[in-house]
Amino acid sequence: MHEGELMRSKLVIGNWKMNGDQATINGLIADLSKTEVSRLSELVVCPPFLYLQQVGNSLSQSAVKLGAQNVCQFSNGAYTGEVSASMLKDLGCEYVLVGHSERRHVFGESSQQVFDKASQLIEAGLVPVVCVGETLSERESGITEKSVAEQLSFFLTEQGVAVLEKCVLAYEPVWAIGTGLSATPGQAQDVHRFMREHIGSRVAGVSARLQILYGGSVKAGNAAELFAMPDIDGGLIGGASLVAKEFLAIAEAAGSYKAT
Ligand code: 13P
Repeated sequence: MHEGELMRSKLVIGNWKMNGDQATINGLIADLSKTEVSRLSELVVCPPFLYLQQVGNSLSQSAVKLGAQNVCQFSNGAYTGEVSASMLKDLGCEYVLVGHSERRHVFGESSQQVFDKASQLIEAGLVPVVCVGETLSERESGITEKSVAEQLSFFLTEQGVAVLEKCVLAYEPVWAIGTGLSATPGQAQDVHRFMREHIGSRVAGVSARLQILYGGSVKAGNAAELFAMPDIDGGLIGGASLVAKEFLAIAEAAGSYKAT
C-alpha cells in the first residue's frame, strides 16, 4: 500500500437517477436507516431533487449522507426549472454529482458547464463528484485516456486546480452504465491509475489525496474485487442502489458499512 492509499477513505454513493415515488423511496430509506451499523460515515444517497427533503429528514439520524444528482451552473436568479448549489446546501446535501454521462450525452452538457457547476458547488461548501468516462466507440478506437483527459482538462488549468482539490472524481465508462457489463477490476484500475498520474503530472500533491470512485454495473457480487484495486476508492452505484440489501452489501464491501 502506498502513502496516498493510506490517506484515502472509501466512499460509496447511490445514484437513484429518475426512479421511485414517495412510497418506494420511503421503503428504501426505512431499510437503509433501520439497519444496525457499526461504521457508516462514507455512504451517500442521491435521490431525485423532488425527494431530497423527504430523504434528508428521514436519514437525519442515520450516518447516511445526502447528495444530489445535478445542479445549475449559475448561482441564482431567472433560470426557470433549475436548482442552485445554495438550495442544495440549504436542504442538507453534502455531495452533488456533476457531469454524469447521462447529463453529458442525453442533455448535451459540456465540460465547461461541468466545471462551472463544480465551481458553484465549492462556493456553496458542497463536494462535487465529477464524473468522466469514455464511450464504447472511444474505447474500441483506443482513445479512452484521451477522452478522460479531455473531460478533466478544465480542472487542470491554474484556476481549475483549486476546484479539483475539493472534488471527488468518478470514472464511469459509458458502456458499463446500466448494461450489466462492468469494467473488469483491471480495466478500471488502469484508467484510475491513468487519471491519478495524469493529474499528478500537472499538479503536484493533489492526486494522491483525490478519491476516485468507479461506477458502471457495480453489484454486491463484483464490488469487493473492484474496491480492492489500489486506485479505486469506492463506487458510484446506479441500479443496485435502489435495492437496500444490495446497496448495503456493496457498502460493506467498501468497509463503509458493517452488518452487525
Ligand atoms: P449502474 O450501476 O446502473 O450501471 O449505473 C451507474 C451509474 O451511472 C451511477 O451514476
